[in-house]
Amino acid sequence: GRVLLAYSGGLDTSCILAWLIEEGYEVYAFMADVGQEEDFAAAEKKALKVGAKKFFLEDMKREFVNELIYPAVQANCIYENVYLLGTSLARPVIARGMISVADREGCDFVSHGCTGKGNDQVRFELAFYGLKPDIKVIAPWRIPEFYHRFAGRKDLLAYAAEKSIPVTQTTAKPWSTDENLFHISYEAGILEDPNTTPPADMWKLTTSPENAPQTPRPSPSNSRPVFLSRKHGIGRIDIVENRFIGVKSRGCYESPGATILRAAHIDLEGLTLDRNVRALRDQFVSIEFSRILYNGHFFTPEREFITAAIPASQRTVNGVVKLKLYKGNVIVEGRESSEGLYDEQQASMDELGGFEPSDTTGFIAIESIRIKKWAQANIAKGQA
Ligand code: ARG
Ligand code: SIN
Repeated sequence: GRVLLAYSGGLDTSCILAWLIEEGYEVYAFMADVGQEEDFAAAEKKALKVGAKKFFLEDMKREFVNELIYPAVQANCIYENVYLLGTSLARPVIARGMISVADREGCDFVSHGCTGKGNDQVRFELAFYGLKPDIKVIAPWRIPEFYHRFAGRKDLLAYAAEKSIPVTQTTAKPWSTDENLFHISYEAGILEDPNTTPPADMWKLTTSPENAPQTPRPSPSNSRPVFLSRKHGIGRIDIVENRFIGVKSRGCYESPGATILRAAHIDLEGLTLDRNVRALRDQFVSIEFSRILYNGHFFTPEREFITAAIPASQRTVNGVVKLKLYKGNVIVEGRESSEGLYDEQQASMDELGGFEPSDTTGFIAIESIRIKKWAQANIAKGQA
């Protein structure tokens, strides 16, 4: 059979490529451009050298931004209060790019190098099945003959030598990364001890807050937010999260631009979004969409339902937020909008506007009915 392999250019997927050939498959290699810093030409060369019959690079950046990042920012998506979901967000478009190549090139199988303990295997495979239910998946890290044969990194290195697979990074970084235009993640290796402070040179996208400029950077309209946020050390995160399959995992992330967008968007909603729409969205759409993204449920009916609600929540969310970036902090300094929800006169403590202050007496009287009852019952119990 013909298999399309999600190839990264690294040791694992190069060995998987060689192994699939050994198992009798014809292998095509696939890469998605989701904005990661990557030498695609070198990866292509390597894939072909290892034995891939063809190499495909799909540019998924536009779909990534329009279909995943915008809705996630609009819904203020976040996982376990900290993680901005950068890896989860890219998986659906990578899977879609892969399935379209597999369809076009007549591949009955797709394969990937995700471990058997992580989220990504679930995300990729549920996305494959949500797009092409009859696709056949080969997940070598869940196949006993594969994972017993390659029990450690030294087995992979030995196999690479045997198959003359060039090993570019001799001293591999002691953690694994996943990068796209929204973020970079660091996991595994030395980070598995949750009490190990990440070494200063791990962080790739941002200046450390300590070394960031002493002078805060206000946001002029022509600024380049991603560049500025990197320079000012914005968006470093270190958490222990609960993976979908149930294990806890320590992860470090950098999401500089995403952190600014989130701060600005949440602030703008304060000015422009109706209170009850906001409450519903926060309790329902934000939480559920975040969970859907994290758990790899993007190609599902519930995701269609949830994302249909997002634009309806955002109709009035237009305007400009003034931000200051300073040593890892995003500081809001003001905002403006032509949307009419905020009424300066109505909000003012110094002016009458729109309603009579005496009306509020009735509002409090009615609101207090059940509170008074509750207090009376407490007092009665205390006296009994
Ligand atoms: N823990 C994060 C997540 O589940 C990051 C996963 C990183 N994936 C990777 N293949 N390195 O979204
Ligand atoms: C992996 O297991 O392949 C990476 C980590 C994850 O998917 O959670």
